[in-house]
Amino acid sequence: MKAQITLLPGDGIGPEVLAAGKSVLESIAQKFGHSFEMQEYLIGGCAIDARGTALPEDTLQACQSSDAVLLGAVGGPKWDDPTAPVRPEQGLLGLRKELGLFANLRPVKPHPDLLDASPLRRELLVEVDLLVIRELTGGIYFGQPRERRSVNGEEQAVDTMIYSESEVRRVAHLAFKLARGRKAKVTSVDKANVLESSRLWRQTVSSMAGDYPDVVLEHLLVDAAAMHLLTRPATFDVMLTSNLFGDILTDEASVLSGSMGNLSSASLGESTNNLNQPKGLFEPIHGSAPDIAGQGIANPIGTILSAAMLLRHSLGLESEARAVEDAVQSAISNGYRTPDLGGSLSTSQMTEKIIAGFGVSKSEAVL
Ligand SMILES: NC(=O)c1ccc[n+]([C@@H]2O[C@H](COP(=O)([O-])OP(=O)(O)OC[C@H]3O[C@@H](n4cnc5c(N)ncnc54)[C@H](O)[C@@H]3O)[C@@H](O)[C@H]2O)c1
Repeated sequence: MKAQITLLPGDGIGPEVLAAGKSVLESIAQKFGHSFEMQEYLIGGCAIDARGTALPEDTLQACQSSDAVLLGAVGGPKWDDPTAPVRPEQGLLGLRKELGLFANLRPVKPHPDLLDASPLRRELLVEVDLLVIRELTGGIYFGQPRERRSVNGEEQAVDTMIYSESEVRRVAHLAFKLARGRKAKVTSVDKANVLESSRLWRQTVSSMAGDYPDVVLEHLLVDAAAMHLLTRPATFDVMLTSNLFGDILTDEASVLSGSMGNLSSASLGESTNNLNQPKGLFEPIHGSAPDIAGQGIANPIGTILSAAMLLRHSLGLESEARAVEDAVQSAISNGYRTPDLGGSLSTSQMTEKIIAGFGVSKSEAVL
């Protein structure tokens, strides 16, 4: 297969972890006989420095015309002034909007050997394998009106939580479809006891259940979901939720896996790429980690697993994605760790250990 992949290293540890993702994709291409054309472009703080904007036009065009995008991270103290007219995260938000990426997928499956890295008791974590799907382009983050105004002599602020049926339906379809390849259960999270937009959300998701008779659907209020995510995380399979609730719950879910550095994400939309697969943006969930940037010690696993998601969702290469995921599992099982997981391997050493495990059994992968 021939595919075009846009690489966006970004800021801080972004370029360090992205180099790991690139090496993995190159090795997979070589092993499985594919040709991946990969080009790097600017985004975030480095783009502001070089071009005065967080999302330069050539970056956007490259993302639009390629089959998939792999991103490191954006931001850092240098660009943190909240009053600045241009900010690094505008690059990421702009890209999601321009590419119409309405669904954010975050898998959480702690490795058995890393259960003690989480603050939760290990017995709660043993069977955890969940996928949070967050609606990404609607809800209170984009609803209008959104403004400051003066009422009776005092300042007032308003945000609007708004969802239309079609916005709910398209992300819910994805949740039901992905649940079919997993444990066939969808937990839809809302606040239907209070919010009208949540009542529409629940009604819409419920009305779709008949199209997926093989998938179990349950509804949970967001306050209960936040609690159950910590008290019985292993009972969830696909957790579907809106933009605001998903923002909070995905961060909460990340503590189940021990280190932020381990977790991957995919943002998908309706548009398809040249391969007739969903176009997507793939990135680790962590930020630019300025405290360790430049030291070469960042954990590359989140980015490498994001590359696996890229192979699966945007290139349709399931075996290749599994080969990457299995190699990550083997490397951890064999005791290889970066400092955030209590080890001493550098980013590139960890990456080499993972690549060395492609297509070989666990015992052979011990180097
Ligand atoms: N998607 C993104 O690009 C994104 C996401 C979150 C934060 N940010 C930005 O990143 C900057 C730093 O934010 P923050 O400190 O709140 O979050 P962060 O995720 O960058 O770091 C939080 C902590 O986790 C550690 N960490 C993160 N990734 C790691 C990895 N791969 N390996 C080892 N340790 C890792 C860091 O060293 C730090 O101690 C800010 O400018 C923020 O706006 C960007």
